[in-house]
Amino acid sequence: MHTAAPLAIRPLRSGFGAQILDVDLASADSETLQGVVQTFNLHGAILLRGQNMDPAALVSFASQFGEPEEHTVKKHTMAGFPEIYMLTNRKVDGKPVGSHNDGVGWHTDFSYKEEPVMCTMLYAVSVPEEGGDTLLADMCAAYAALPPDEQERLAAMTVHHSYQYFATTRKYNRRELTEAERAAHPDVFHPLIRTHPANGRKALWPSTGTVRGIVGMDPAEALPLIERLVEFGTQEQFVYRHRWQVGDILVWDNRCTLHTGTLFDDTRYVREMHRLWVKGDRPF
Ligand SMILES: [Fe+2]
Repeated sequence: MHTAAPLAIRPLRSGFGAQILDVDLASADSETLQGVVQTFNLHGAILLRGQNMDPAALVSFASQFGEPEEHTVKKHTMAGFPEIYMLTNRKVDGKPVGSHNDGVGWHTDFSYKEEPVMCTMLYAVSVPEEGGDTLLADMCAAYAALPPDEQERLAAMTVHHSYQYFATTRKYNRRELTEAERAAHPDVFHPLIRTHPANGRKALWPSTGTVRGIVGMDPAEALPLIERLVEFGTQEQFVYRHRWQVGDILVWDNRCTLHTGTLFDDTRYVREMHRLWVKGDRPF
């Protein structure tokens, strides 16, 4: 039986993430693509550089990981490709064609859903010369660095997430929800310590933005605790900073990471990223 050669990889940072070298996704065979998915499952994030992916190829690649997730806000999805969301400050005829300054602040995607997305994929089409980085925090390493009694104390806690709270309190793109949006996004509750279903590793799994509190705890105590934990888990020693190049594809596992975007000078540069999500399951 033919066995594929293992993929050449190098870590994004010590103990976290993998850059996959020498793979052209648009022409890769299915065995190679399986290897890419396996690498993702083992390392928490993967990077492939120099890719040339049209929208259909992006959707097809995302489908290797599972079923693409639809986006909550439909306004900025790509025409003909509802699975692809436009993150950009580019305008056409004076109108924004995507969301700008989305995802600034440490979080995990879709935390306000019963089944948050498993992974997030970004493809760089146009990047600023400086700024607009994406930071990934390895929350398994953060969990492992906690004292055992603290691990145990936190494992008993459940985090209260709310889309309504997020939409009405965030720094950018703040707005009131419609009745229909409120009905479509009831509050959800997730464990503070999450177990990875594929490899059993535990991750510290707070977030910001959607977090209203911790079940059974005074919000005046819970929110500062969440803040401290996010601060702890996103210390430099746990963080990979990705500086984008055109043609980069970065995929991260939301079950064991937090991420944030960073701002850039949008009067000087145009940034355009295509974002895809893959469905996840219920955290435990
Ligand atoms: Fe995000």
